[in-house]
Amino acid sequence: MKQRRVALVPTMGYLHEGHLSLARLAAASSDVVIVSIFVNPTQFNNPADLATYPRDLKRDLDLLEKEDFKIVFAPHEDELYAEGFQSWVNVARLTETLEGAHRPGHFQGVATVVSMLFNAVAPDAAVFGEKDFQQLRVIEQLVKDLKFPVEIIRAPIVREDDGLALSSRNVRLSPEERSSALLISKGLFEARALFQKGERNGSKLTAVVHSQLSQSPLIAPEYVELVREDDLTPIAQAAPGARILLAATVGKVRLIDNLSL
Ligand code: PAJ
Repeated sequence: MKQRRVALVPTMGYLHEGHLSLARLAAASSDVVIVSIFVNPTQFNNPADLATYPRDLKRDLDLLEKEDFKIVFAPHEDELYAEGFQSWVNVARLTETLEGAHRPGHFQGVATVVSMLFNAVAPDAAVFGEKDFQQLRVIEQLVKDLKFPVEIIRAPIVREDDGLALSSRNVRLSPEERSSALLISKGLFEARALFQKGERNGSKLTAVVHSQLSQSPLIAPEYVELVREDDLTPIAQAAPGARILLAATVGKVRLIDNLSL
């Protein structure tokens, strides 16, 4: 009998069109799609962020059912983190900058829970979104280094019509914050347009992003960096394979976004 190919889509729930696009991509190349839903406490460096993270399992299951995704893995916290838990997975260099620098312990939590999900589900493939570009690179490195027999599939960022990258956290934005948050993608697209016109100077490219972000007093940028896509090292001159990554809080909501130039 032919082995069925299983693809896993790891999520923290409160599903949106971005998550669903990952599941559709998983379905396109496999026989069985398993969506995991688990709000992983160990990747939240900020307790308030964990406490306010939106959750609604019933709603998630309905959304998945509508598209015929019938297999969901939604473990309880103590199924993954038993009492006395003390083993962690660390990816070194790739996690030292950007999100890793601003959210201590975040990627250790991500790498550990993804390893546990891979062990529990034993998928042939797993889909991760470019929305969390550093996370995607960290998982690719983890799979390569620890030799998980899992093919990592990259999924493009899904955006609202006006450009805002979909995120479970967007529901926490007030209408005013929602319109300020638009400046994030606006800045990124403007930088890309400048790159396409021939600008290669990294400071000039990130400056146009900063200048959009500064249009709103509700936005506090954490970082805006031009990096190489492969090792995420900062670069002064943009070249093909360069990407701008950024994080900013809008009101109390922390958002990330990125764009390949
Ligand atoms: P979560 O934020 O729920 O995201 C789950 C997956 O959906 C990630 O691979 C993420 O990159 C992808 N995703 C989110 N928004 C997207 C968008 N607008 N377009 C495309 N893909 C998008 O990322 C996590 O959960 C967790 O860290 C997890 C990997 C599940 C480990 O706990």
